[in-house]
Amino acid sequence: MRLTKVSFSFLLAISLFFGCQAQKKTSKSDTPIYLNPSANVDARIQDLMSRMTLEDKAAQMSQYVGLEHMRKALGDLSEDDLDKNDAQGFYPGFKTTDIARLTEEGKIGSFLHVLTAEEANELQALAQKSPLKIPLLIGIDAIHGNAYYQGGATVYPTPITQAATFNDDLMRKVSAQTAIEMRATGTQWTFTPNIDVLRDPRWGRTGETFGEDPFLVGNMGVAAIEGLQGEDFSSTNHVIACAKHLIAGSQSINGLNASPTDVSKRTLFEIFLPPYRRAVQEANVFSIMAAHNEVNGMPGHMDKFMMTDLMRNRWGFKGFYVSDWNDISRIAKWHHVAKDFKESVLFSLSAGMDMNMHGPFFQDYVVELVNEGKLSVERVNDAVYKILEAKFKLGLFENPYVDLKKVKTTIFTPEHQEAALQQAREGIVLQKNDGILPLRNLDGKRIFITGPNADNMTILGDWTSPQPDENYVTIKEGIDQFAKKYKFNSEYYDCGQRSKWITDENINIAKSKAAQSDLVVLVLGENSYRHDWPNKTTGENIDRATLALSGNQLNLAKAIIETGKPIVVVYVSGSPIAEPWLESNVKAVVNAWEPGAFGGQAVAEILMGEVNPSGKLPLTIPRSVGQLQMVYNHKPTAYIHKYNTEKKVPLHPFGFGLSYTSFQFSEPQVSKTSFNSIDDKILVSVNVTNTGEMKGEEVVQMYIRDNISSYTRPVKELKGYKRVSLEPGETKTVSLEIKAESLAFYDADYHFVVEPGEFTIMTGNSSADKDLKSITINAPDKIILD
Ligand code: BGC
Repeated sequence: MRLTKVSFSFLLAISLFFGCQAQKKTSKSDTPIYLNPSANVDARIQDLMSRMTLEDKAAQMSQYVGLEHMRKALGDLSEDDLDKNDAQGFYPGFKTTDIARLTEEGKIGSFLHVLTAEEANELQALAQKSPLKIPLLIGIDAIHGNAYYQGGATVYPTPITQAATFNDDLMRKVSAQTAIEMRATGTQWTFTPNIDVLRDPRWGRTGETFGEDPFLVGNMGVAAIEGLQGEDFSSTNHVIACAKHLIAGSQSINGLNASPTDVSKRTLFEIFLPPYRRAVQEANVFSIMAAHNEVNGMPGHMDKFMMTDLMRNRWGFKGFYVSDWNDISRIAKWHHVAKDFKESVLFSLSAGMDMNMHGPFFQDYVVELVNEGKLSVERVNDAVYKILEAKFKLGLFENPYVDLKKVKTTIFTPEHQEAALQQAREGIVLQKNDGILPLRNLDGKRIFITGPNADNMTILGDWTSPQPDENYVTIKEGIDQFAKKYKFNSEYYDCGQRSKWITDENINIAKSKAAQSDLVVLVLGENSYRHDWPNKTTGENIDRATLALSGNQLNLAKAIIETGKPIVVVYVSGSPIAEPWLESNVKAVVNAWEPGAFGGQAVAEILMGEVNPSGKLPLTIPRSVGQLQMVYNHKPTAYIHKYNTEKKVPLHPFGFGLSYTSFQFSEPQVSKTSFNSIDDKILVSVNVTNTGEMKGEEVVQMYIRDNISSYTRPVKELKGYKRVSLEPGETKTVSLEIKAESLAFYDADYHFVVEPGEFTIMTGNSSADKDLKSITINAPDKIILD
């Protein structure tokens, strides 16, 4: 039975009453029930809550930034900067010693931005001095590996690169590895996955997303949560995941982070909400973060329909909500729909919010609001129950500390490094190749390497702390690793490691060096690296008004093109680069996205033909910013008319990516043509043959179109994919499944239904019509899923 909010609160009130009785019964024993590891979790929570004052409870709902983080922010930021800086924080009027004291007094339930295992232990030790000894829940943005940790964790490729692998199993595996690295270093809660469906690539956070398609985003999100949380995070090797950000901040009206979103209810249900529904129902995600932005006039942090009516009551979310950075106070400060922070707390908690990220005053307001009768104590109890449930299941009452001696042998292990490399190999997309790749006959040749992203940590992407030099391989280093084997000489020229720094003098020098070489590898792109915030060109809070290359990069490329030398362009960027002219004037374009610690090695392996590229674009790459919104799953009328000065086709379609071999696809076959009931399944089979001369991997994709529907439906939607490896000449049959939800959408009353009628099933290796072959099936009757 699914508990509604009312029934849950009622049961909690009853059980708290009995919990008080239980407390009395056990008061003679030395160990209270909540400290007894063999008691069941519910009994432990009840017991603990029966001992807690309202102030204790409000404290559990409060999160603060770590002490080291505070110290650094105090040095870097003015009080005025604080309002808009989402990366650093401190508390005006509070010293780090005050925060330490509050922790000792049990007045803080959670921390974030604790970046070393030593600090995690220190904070837990403070919490252990508090009267109830409730351990801290420590959260971190372990977005692609525990990369934010300061001490050399495995940095996997960023989410957009991970999505380009179309490999859910690998995603699950690296997420499980991330959980192990987190627990070893004292954090138990990661603010990932970001399951925002990306609909506007101007958004600087594009690299944090799994791209534009709800199905792919949902699959990657589910795999990430399953890897991170395991069965139900009841183990010291698992962590709590956090689906974020509810909702639709990836399509703000002007592409800027935190700016308003104005979308229809239908678009919310069809595009943005499906991954959240799956995160809750398939993967039991235990926390959800609300979004900075408003949707249709309603700030995400006080959206009762989203948080409570839909996610919790209709779809069964069983975990807790956390605010995004300072966003409860911003209900008043930015959105102007509450008069002050206190009223913002009331609106937010009444809508379903459970924890404040981050800082003082919140908990005082919670207490005042309850005492004034404005906020129900049941609402507070609901929130605290979930937060404590997390702490108990994670084993924190038994093991709040980490063993510092084990950190080094648990993180950045050879196995984790191998998985990071594998994900980079599978996520890099070959966008153009006129035959120059893989590079051949390099004996005695001179390769000239330059460009702002050739030899630095931009390959690591956002949410990364600076890594030890020996822990990552830049693209220059990756190429150099092959110099001996293929007997080439390489020369690197540092033309300015940030696009803004490239001067005309740098360009002239690069040009003359290129003129003396046999081949140029030009590594361009953007920079989301947050430790170099002033020079970022994309990433959090740095959005793009153009999709073209930033700074002086195109001039650099033009100068090198003038030499007439063959050029391979490598892009390093979490955001797509729209440079049609450049792509048609160089021999090859390799889109490495942000390939992580071993990205340089993976790029070099692909250039040398040691690895056959197999990544596929998880988003459409438009030709120009003026084409936005440009997505493959658009509605039928999107391209009836034309632009005056721009084509209406993309630079590259969703799902596209070249290989060094060629694949042939048969016509799709279906196991039957009639889809009859909610549990029915149709298998779609397609024979794929490697018709080239090199072993390779291909991603077989299945798209579906509802041919005639009561509301307009997309021209195609991804509903299945599978990665397959083929030797030259080999053929394999790949089967993909059509389920009821592959055909369903929301009807006029927002029931999830399959409408009767005909559906076109398309299979191939990209979303472009020319790459797809089709067959039709039928659903004779309406099927109601919910
Ligand atoms: C971001 C979140 C992130 C949080 C904590 C915010 O600025 O929007 O995605 O989890 O900071 O670092």
